Amino acid sequence: MLRGRLHLCGGRAQPFADATPCNRRSVNKRHSCSIQTKAADVSTVAPAGAANARTIVGKVSDPMARREKEMIDTQPPRGTRDFFPEDMRLRNWLFGEFAAVSRSFGFEQYDTPVLESEDLFVRKAGEEITEQLYNFEDKGGRRVALRPELTPSLARLVLQRGKTLPLPAKWFAVGQCWRYERMTRGRRREHYQWNMDIVGVEGVEAEAELLAAVVALLQRLGLGSGDVGIRVNSRKVLQGVLSAHGVPPEAFARVCVIVDKLDKLPRDKVESELVSAAGLPPASASSLLSALASLASLPDLRAALGPDSEAVADLERLFELAEGYGYKDWLVFDPSVVRGLAYYTGIVFEGFDRAGQLRALCGGGRYDRLLGSLGGREAEEVPMAGFGFGDAVIVELLKERGLLPELPHKVDDVVVPLDTHLRPAAAGLASRLRRAGRSVDLVLEAKKMKWAFKHAEKLHACRLILVGAEEWGRGNVVVRDLAAFQQAEVPAEELV
Ligand code: HAM
Repeated sequence: MLRGRLHLCGGRAQPFADATPCNRRSVNKRHSCSIQTKAADVSTVAPAGAANARTIVGKVSDPMARREKEMIDTQPPRGTRDFFPEDMRLRNWLFGEFAAVSRSFGFEQYDTPVLESEDLFVRKAGEEITEQLYNFEDKGGRRVALRPELTPSLARLVLQRGKTLPLPAKWFAVGQCWRYERMTRGRRREHYQWNMDIVGVEGVEAEAELLAAVVALLQRLGLGSGDVGIRVNSRKVLQGVLSAHGVPPEAFARVCVIVDKLDKLPRDKVESELVSAAGLPPASASSLLSALASLASLPDLRAALGPDSEAVADLERLFELAEGYGYKDWLVFDPSVVRGLAYYTGIVFEGFDRAGQLRALCGGGRYDRLLGSLGGREAEEVPMAGFGFGDAVIVELLKERGLLPELPHKVDDVVVPLDTHLRPAAAGLASRLRRAGRSVDLVLEAKKMKWAFKHAEKLHACRLILVGAEEWGRGNVVVRDLAAFQQAEVPAEELV
């Protein structure tokens, strides 16, 4: 029980002995938006014009100088985000979910530098991603770039290990990517991507496993097949249609990149780009797009390409596997999905919100020839498949559905020394509790008792531990259990 000068019950606690007017000021003025509000900021870009909002904040007191001091712009560069602690709680939670799903599928984590050699990302198929590259010359005159995606870096690692890499390899990463984008909702100039890739598996069993991981993540987050669908196709469909139109294989990657624009540009624009940029005869461009539009279902595809077509076999097998996994209802066959990245060679897929409000949640597919395009010998080619899943769009969707979790800042204990000379004792106690695995907030300044209670409540602490002179003299501290509204004087040594 409390004795002496500690009177905690009934809100009549005494002020600390050494509380001075100057340290009675409130420290409560910090950023205190709710997680819901801040979650909106996670995917909301800085207001237009904020980058120019340089403010004159005052005059330098030096009478000799008498010049106005300009404060630096407090906004981050346009299209990028600051992560305040409440935003970090959300980010860490989401990345924790990514990692948990990856590990549950037996994947290992890797990482690579955000800064890479420019060559790694420069491809000649006219992809948007190449045009959006953040590239520059470093102080040593080398051309470098901030990675716009993780896949080429993964390919570099696979090439680096060569034959010594045990296959299949199942690796995941969560990394920041940079693209100089025109910004829209959920699209920004820096974003984080969760990637899972399988190296060394030829069959669509790899894609089926990757899609199972995407679905597992979405289900963990509380979403169902009514909220999100995954459009699936194979680039071999387009390849088949192209060769039927006599288009040379060299034009394939460029044609894919152009056809991918069908959901953003009118059909006639896509058609004329197929002629001007990919060199297709106008009649072929037109009949190619008509042929793709006519393939509404897998039976249509089978009828058009024949039962021996690899595209048909891959897609039918993928749907069969999806049925086995139990996620077939998430999949939608869509022959217009080809993806805007040049390197895909087989199955491609994109996750989308069924309400049609947001950009793609994720995208991926098979890329069996990327190593060769990076200079690897033909013998070094390894089949690869994977996906990238952005952080911004999923947060938007979870916010819309009210599925973002409450993520308050929490500690186990708050330790308060009640006098200056008790600070070493309180520090020793806090250290011991931390070594025992508890999270402990040690109050470092003289504070009033009322403040200490409020502070402990704000931190959702389980216990408030008061180190007072009289109790400490008996080898004890006062422990207040904040959930049970009970307190007791207990031996400090026994506290765990
Ligand atoms: P991607 O489709 O370019 O694919 O990007 C994957 C996901 O990253 C997108 O679906 C989207 O959620 C997110 N994302 C991309 N750009 C932005 C942006 N500017 N702002 C916000 N989110 C964005 C790739 O990057 C491939 N490398 C994925 C892959 C891995 N394929 C095989 N393995």
